[in-house]
Amino acid sequence: MSDTRVRPALKREIGLFGATALGIGAIIGSGIFIVTGIVAGIAGPAMVISVIIAGVIAVFSAMSVAELGAYLPEEGGTYAYAQKLISPFAGFIAGWIWIFSNIFVGAAVSLGFAHYFVTLFPAIPVKIIAAVICTLFLFINYIGLKGSVLFNNILVTAKVLILLFFVAFGLGFFHPGNVIPLAPGGAVGILSGAALIFFAYTGFARVTIMAEEVKDPEKTIPRSIFLALGISTVIYLLVSVVAVGLTGAPALAQSGSPLADAIGITGNPGAVLVISLGAMIATASVLLTTIMGISRIVFSMARSRDLPLLFGMIHPRFSTPHYAIAVTGACMIAALLLADLTLVVSISTFAMLLYYLIANIAALRLPREHRRYPTWVPVMGALSCTGLIVFLSPDSWIIGCIGLLLGVTWFLFRRKTVA
Ligand code: ALA
Repeated sequence: MSDTRVRPALKREIGLFGATALGIGAIIGSGIFIVTGIVAGIAGPAMVISVIIAGVIAVFSAMSVAELGAYLPEEGGTYAYAQKLISPFAGFIAGWIWIFSNIFVGAAVSLGFAHYFVTLFPAIPVKIIAAVICTLFLFINYIGLKGSVLFNNILVTAKVLILLFFVAFGLGFFHPGNVIPLAPGGAVGILSGAALIFFAYTGFARVTIMAEEVKDPEKTIPRSIFLALGISTVIYLLVSVVAVGLTGAPALAQSGSPLADAIGITGNPGAVLVISLGAMIATASVLLTTIMGISRIVFSMARSRDLPLLFGMIHPRFSTPHYAIAVTGACMIAALLLADLTLVVSISTFAMLLYYLIANIAALRLPREHRRYPTWVPVMGALSCTGLIVFLSPDSWIIGCIGLLLGVTWFLFRRKTVA
């Protein structure tokens, strides 16, 4: 039997290191290990410029989220900020599209894991591996394995070190001729690449979802957001420059495991193994924090009656929101089985850009005394998120809008039944 016990107040136990690791844990995954290959096919070596553009756009939204997180260090991120600063409807939509986006993040990182797994065990189909790893991590979250913060710190340290190894080792094999022609896709290629690689930066606001567990949140939340995003951006720039220099953009574009193939040019099978393991660690760590994040938001929304109460029920033995995990997990598995990686990434990015758009609007409505940055920061954040959406594929707009409409319909239906 399940019950609806309210969770006890959460302990503020996460310090700056843990909060930053939480961010990097959610940021570095399929984006850098897989999507760089897709972007190389669209933008060519100028994918490095796409990486910079997406990083700058992420910084605007990160600044907005940082001031919101310091103002309202409660669980729920933009779901909570928009409810308070815009309207209950805006808050609901923020929560809804965050869940929607992260269902596709879960599918994307499971597929990313599988693409690198097959470099070691080619006999097993990618989709089967993706479904199995996703199910395994859903199960881990379902039974509420303890020690997840420590586990995350270990995974994050490992993936950062492995990417630094890629840069340091690969640099010796950099071939300058590989950066020519620089931008075969022109400006549109670069901007379309920026829209896709924005996926690699999403996750920088993850700490705000768990804000009630962060020590000294007014200082720790903004600092950890900038640290996580800053570290990831520097790593992304270095990795994308070295990857292009190793094999050239066309070879990256043709690969399902671009960084493993790039380092393979060195002729060192040990290096290929290390990078493949790094990719699996990175995607697994994003999967872990994504499922954890989804279950928390679904739980919070159910607790506020924004989602059916069933999702707020916690398991009597494992103390986890098991219905929330089971239903969102089933959607994740359906997504990874039915769609290809590029589509899954585009849909997720579409929804996440809408989420940050709402965050920027909420930041614009902050009381003056709580603003840390000038008004042009959230304005640029809102405009750049909207602008980037234009460069995503039409099929991602359609599926994203269907997801949005489902949310709006539920909101109206719920209002009618509750009223
Ligand atoms: N930013 C995350 C990744 O690249 C979603 O996997």
